[in-house]
Amino acid sequence: MKIYTTYAPIYDSIGQAQFAQRLVAQILSAWPTPPQRVLDLACGTGGAALAFAERGIEVVGLDRSAAMLRIARARARDRDLAVRWVHADMRRMRDRPATHDLLRPASFDLVTCLYDSLNYLRAAEDLGLVCASVADLLRPGGQFVFDLNTEYEFATWDDTDQVVYDSSDLLVYNRLNYNRYTRVAQGRIVWFVREIDRWWRGEEVHTERFWHDADVQAAVQAAGMQVVARYTPAWQPAPPDAARVVYVCASGPQPAQGIVGHSVGQQGQAVGD
Ligand SMILES: C[S@@+](CC[C@H](N)C(=O)[O-])C[C@H]1O[C@@H](n2cnc3c(N)ncnc32)[C@H](O)[C@@H]1O
Repeated sequence: MKIYTTYAPIYDSIGQAQFAQRLVAQILSAWPTPPQRVLDLACGTGGAALAFAERGIEVVGLDRSAAMLRIARARARDRDLAVRWVHADMRRMRDRPATHDLLRPASFDLVTCLYDSLNYLRAAEDLGLVCASVADLLRPGGQFVFDLNTEYEFATWDDTDQVVYDSSDLLVYNRLNYNRYTRVAQGRIVWFVREIDRWWRGEEVHTERFWHDADVQAAVQAAGMQVVARYTPAWQPAPPDAARVVYVCASGPQPAQGIVGHSVGQQGQAVGD
């Protein structure tokens, strides 16, 4: 069953795009000079893409959900921001010749993929496919910044109902669980929207995968990039037990033009090891 369809307007109205907006501010404050051209993968309703565009940066936003992109387009139109949008799966982002001009090799200073969107990749080869395409799209010295939920986050997914939003006309609750043997996490998102005197129910089940730090480092390196920093979302060096890690990766052997890294070793064990 497709996800981010009926959930798209709910996602946006409960403020889920704010995480990426905040991260854009952190990323840009760490860049010595603003990037000129940015690609935001899995851009959703456009939180990060619009935040880059508001600062005068040329942006392309890509997502596989038509419903999320519809909202992103409308938000850009409302704010008079000229973002270009691509409807595609990030594992096969250059499959459609019509988008080749927007997704030219070596044409982006920065590629982002925010709010655990890469956790949605499931097959072992998927992370490698995305990293290889990103490496191809980055200018020499460009950077790829993404965040991932780690197993420390998934280990807190305890299969109980948690209300995450509660207002007079919208209630949203999540039931999240994690199987550490399969490394698969599932979130059942249920919402009720009030329309005058009736409540409408909606539901989607989202599946995420835990990517061990070793998997990430291997995929990044195989694509010819290197991990130069691992941060928390508050932009502190990530401790080994961080619940979410923001990875900063640099393309090629050239000195990076963007965020200056810190020493990054491979991070240790999975929670259950
Ligand atoms: C948690 S949302 C994050 C959206 C946005 N980055 C933000 O921070 O608000 C995950 C997004 O990833 C997109 N997505 C998941 N798998 C994808 C894929 N293989 N290709 C493109 N987009 C994908 C979904 O459609 C959804 O918009």
